[in-house]
Amino acid sequence: MTLHKNKKQEKMHQNPHTKHTPVLLAEILSSVSPEKGERYLDLTAGYGGHATAILDATDNYKESVLIDRDGYANMELKRQFELTGIEIIHQDYLNASRRLLADKRQFDIIVADLGVSSPHLNEGSRGFSFNDVGPLDMRMDQSQEKTAWHIVNQTSEQELSDLLWRFGEEPKARQIARLIVKNRPLTTTNQLAEIAVRVWRSSHSRTHPATRTFQAIRIAVNDELGQLAEALPVWLRLLAPGGRIAIISFHSLEDRIVKQFFVSQSGERYDAELLLLTKRPLTPSPQELAHNPRSRSAKLRVAVKQK
Ligand SMILES: C[S@@+](CC[C@H](N)C(=O)[O-])C[C@H]1O[C@@H](n2cnc3c(N)ncnc32)[C@H](O)[C@@H]1O
Repeated sequence: MTLHKNKKQEKMHQNPHTKHTPVLLAEILSSVSPEKGERYLDLTAGYGGHATAILDATDNYKESVLIDRDGYANMELKRQFELTGIEIIHQDYLNASRRLLADKRQFDIIVADLGVSSPHLNEGSRGFSFNDVGPLDMRMDQSQEKTAWHIVNQTSEQELSDLLWRFGEEPKARQIARLIVKNRPLTTTNQLAEIAVRVWRSSHSRTHPATRTFQAIRIAVNDELGQLAEALPVWLRLLAPGGRIAIISFHSLEDRIVKQFFVSQSGERYDAELLLLTKRPLTPSPQELAHNPRSRSAKLRVAVKQK
């Protein structure tokens, strides 16, 4: 499969919109230790970075599955993997996982690399980036009806404020919600970003003032925390005895859900199903941070299912 990998990497580097550098790749490989013949489930396959490395080691395409809810990521996955015979599912990981469970599927390695990909952030028309002018969209699955526009323009001030506080941990949630409502309708990402900039105008923080607002609205549009909390017990059931599950999160709200679930399923209890392979989450090395600054908030937790 080396030929397949080289051709794939070449293609990705030619197109900035499909270029995504997989984070914590070395840490995933060393903690999950993929072996020949193992069955792999990638819940957020994106642009195939983790999948390529793991499948190169397992070389079991027929019993492995790649999932992503994003249409462009799926097109790219199909292009890269079409000759391998691997199953590629274009759906959110919660419903896709439920379907795999109903089909009594089992996997030896499960990976979830949560959140958005670089192409989401690099392509202004997707509406994820406060650095670009784009529509208020932020949908990972382009067939979904609800967009950021609906949340920004149709949610009450109180709900908006709660959402910015809960999903963005935004200290100025109330002021931002008030200014959004006062300036509605908003149609573009820069109008939304400008509101956060106005509220935070006297701050000297190094983070962009709109970071937390955009995170909160994106999480709400894609129901990211709800999907994760509901999917974790399903993933545990999809994991074969001795199987490893690795989850990379990018903010504290996601990481808390993963940590609490792993802790609740492990420990000294007689019915504990998981053994934690990472007592503390693994984070990017200084070399990785220098090479890929977007990895800076990544945290990896890995557990093995007891036999
Ligand atoms: C950080 S990227 C993954 C990159 C991938 N590991 C790689 O190496 O190319 C996250 C991907 O997860 C997808 N995603 C996020 N939430 C999802 C969900 N609930 N169901 C399915 N895919 C999801 C996004 O569309 C995005 O492509």
